[in-house]
Amino acid sequence: MSETPAIFDVRGVSKIYPTRSRRGQSVAALRDITFSVSDGDSMAIVGESGSGKSTLSRMLLALESPTSGTVSFRGEVVSGRSERELRDFRRRVQIVFQDPLSSLDPRMRVHDLLAEPLRALKIEVDEAERVRELLASVEMPAAAANRYAHQFSGGQRQRIAIARALGPSPDVLIADEPVSALDVSVRAQILNLLSSLVRDFHLTLVFVSHDMAVVRHLCSSIVVLYRGDLVEMGTTEDVFVSPREDYTKELLAAAPRIRAVRAAKRVGPREA
Ligand SMILES: Nc1ncnc2c1ncn2[C@@H]1O[C@H](COP(=O)(O)OP(=O)(O)OP(=O)(O)O)[C@@H](O)[C@H]1O
Ligand SMILES: [Mg+2]
Repeated sequence: MSETPAIFDVRGVSKIYPTRSRRGQSVAALRDITFSVSDGDSMAIVGESGSGKSTLSRMLLALESPTSGTVSFRGEVVSGRSERELRDFRRRVQIVFQDPLSSLDPRMRVHDLLAEPLRALKIEVDEAERVRELLASVEMPAAAANRYAHQFSGGQRQRIAIARALGPSPDVLIADEPVSALDVSVRAQILNLLSSLVRDFHLTLVFVSHDMAVVRHLCSSIVVLYRGDLVEMGTTEDVFVSPREDYTKELLAAAPRIRAVRAAKRVGPREA
């Protein structure tokens, strides 16, 4: 049997920050984290605030290097590589941030926001056509290209941010709390959009969230972080049906929005 390397292989990753704590101690944001993400997975990284979720996603994106351990992408170590060596990786792995307003330059028109990564990565396409295509894939009108991000609602801005991430035709989308800055009424729409894009474009998704209800809706597997430790991982089904750790049970108990998300999915108003 031939073995295809995992999309991500995280081996013994620790990240120690030389601190900002009052007592001058260093902070172990991640401790000896090991897991892998297979092709086509939708994996959730969950945990309370400060558990290390964003730090771990920065390691996956090779924006920072682990203090020890390695992150590999399709069998090749990405930790500590130069930007030149990461060029192909930078195209294949894209990110959607929590707050679309701060991640989208307010001085740029939507056309340029979507074209910028294509130019940076030297992807040769008919820009106008690609921008139209990208806007259509996030259900935005072509005319949006001429406007600025601040002229749109929060949900529409997150659609634009998602379109920008899709531009380079990535294999992987890493989304760090992509709906938590949005109004509850538009969250379900953005989550449904993400879920159909993942399916239509065969994307592997890494979804960072502290909201278990959302995770259940969207993800096939779950990694649970607690104060920098990986305390549980498994399929979404297994983690929800029989969580092994008390901490996971607490997270599940603190997820009051399952019904709200379902309801919004059924009757959710279309945003303006
Ligand atoms: N650049 C940094 N310098 C120093 N400490 C940091 C840095 N980044 C993160 N930390 C610390 O590492 C720990 C994990 O932070 P991280 O942002 O990864 O948590 P998180 O799970 O994403 O939290 P949240 O849900 O609030 O976004 C925290 O204690 C944080 O203060
Ligand atoms: Mg975070």
